[in-house]
Amino acid sequence: MTAGTGARGDALVVFGITGDLARVMTFRSLYRLEKRGMLDFPIIGVAFDDWTIDRLIRRVRESVAATGEVIDPVVLERLCGRLSYVHGDFADEGTYERVATAVGTATAPVYYLETPPGLFGTVVEGLANAGLAARGRFVIEKPFGHDLASARDLAADLHQYVDESQLYRIDHYLGKMGLEEIIYLRFANAMLEPVWNRNYIDCVQITMAEDFGIAGRGGFYEPVGALRDVVVNHLMQLLAAVAMEAPSHGDVGTFKDMQTSVFRSMVDADPARYVRGQFSGYREVDGVAADSTTETFCALELQIENWRWSGVPFFIRTGKLLPVTQTEVRLVFKHPPRLGFGLRRTDSEPDQFVIRLDPTTGLRIVLNAQRADAETPSPVEFDMEFAAEGGEGPTPYEVLLLAAIEGRAGRFGRQDTVEEAWRVMQPLIDAPPPVQTYATGTWGPDGSAALVAEHGGWRNPWIPQPGAPEAPVR
Ligand code: BG6
Repeated sequence: MTAGTGARGDALVVFGITGDLARVMTFRSLYRLEKRGMLDFPIIGVAFDDWTIDRLIRRVRESVAATGEVIDPVVLERLCGRLSYVHGDFADEGTYERVATAVGTATAPVYYLETPPGLFGTVVEGLANAGLAARGRFVIEKPFGHDLASARDLAADLHQYVDESQLYRIDHYLGKMGLEEIIYLRFANAMLEPVWNRNYIDCVQITMAEDFGIAGRGGFYEPVGALRDVVVNHLMQLLAAVAMEAPSHGDVGTFKDMQTSVFRSMVDADPARYVRGQFSGYREVDGVAADSTTETFCALELQIENWRWSGVPFFIRTGKLLPVTQTEVRLVFKHPPRLGFGLRRTDSEPDQFVIRLDPTTGLRIVLNAQRADAETPSPVEFDMEFAAEGGEGPTPYEVLLLAAIEGRAGRFGRQDTVEEAWRVMQPLIDAPPPVQTYATGTWGPDGSAALVAEHGGWRNPWIPQPGAPEAPVR
């Protein structure tokens, strides 16, 4: 067994614990894991800030409270009791000596690097030089490079000190219940798989819409943009879940091979089928250049050249300051032939299968039926909220932190998968079309609709509205 798999973690070391990600995500996840009785080891925070342990504990308490968790004081006290704090410069070897003392005799420490990616190499090298790397696993946060070449460089840098099996690349979409549901629904049922292919499906539409902007994150977002921020990682993972073949074996390697082979069969993305938008007012955000051409919206078409998907376009759109916050995958089926019992209307909707990931996990099936209020077969919707079927489940970061602690690598990205995703996107990075301004609260520039025009347009996302009738599809 290599250091990266199997053994349960017996210490968690969080680099960058004073930062934003810890405040917004990590402490809440740790609290929830503590509540479930999943933590039984020390947690060591490491950061440059000259904080005391009391200050860190205060931060933990405030952060968990701010997420809206209903707090059990006994659980929170127990979590805080596990914490210790090491402050120091990540480039200073003394820092790692102090980390070594704190890690003590732990045999499977988990190092969680919540630092800017530019520091990954420094931290891993520091741990390796202190003799702490060989027995640990390393959880790192995106971005994994900013294009294909830099993704390779980053991996080469890290592979000097640790092997691939020790690297756990977080993409929090891999911890989302909705993404896992896609895989379960596809492979745990006999009725879906036979129609899940180019013989029946006209196109796949993936929408990740956000009704908020980038206030407070301008400095991060400006050199990144929508394609790198969420498409090459989160939305490609979603696409892989929709498009992959069933793993023929339950081991992590086979599962990852299936995801990677989807990307391998993808054609390089075509800049002529890529639309970039920027919301009006973006250039006034702090940290953004006055003449910025960064996209805050993008829409694109991707093609998978294999027996299952050849000829079926996968459309992706995402953006900031759109009308709603919602993420879904929608499979749009082909139209049936015109039948004797009623002519198809020219605007009739084909069947659709929708898995919603956010704001809640849900499943919608749209079929055509004879309705009392329509003369021709018309859509009826079958909706299911997973909250009503066993609950919403743990949060993505809770899922992923636990998986890292338990050494379940299947929930994390592998380097060859990361590189294939960049390879597909690289032409869009090399030859981006001009960015077009869009008004906030709209669905982005006009070109986005044109991209999907031959496939009936983008379907309106399915928004859960408890008690209210749903808007018609389209
Ligand atoms: C992050 C991006 O990775 O994912 C953000 O940096 C984005 O820009 C966020 O808002 C979306 O995550 P979720 O889980 O809210 O869909």
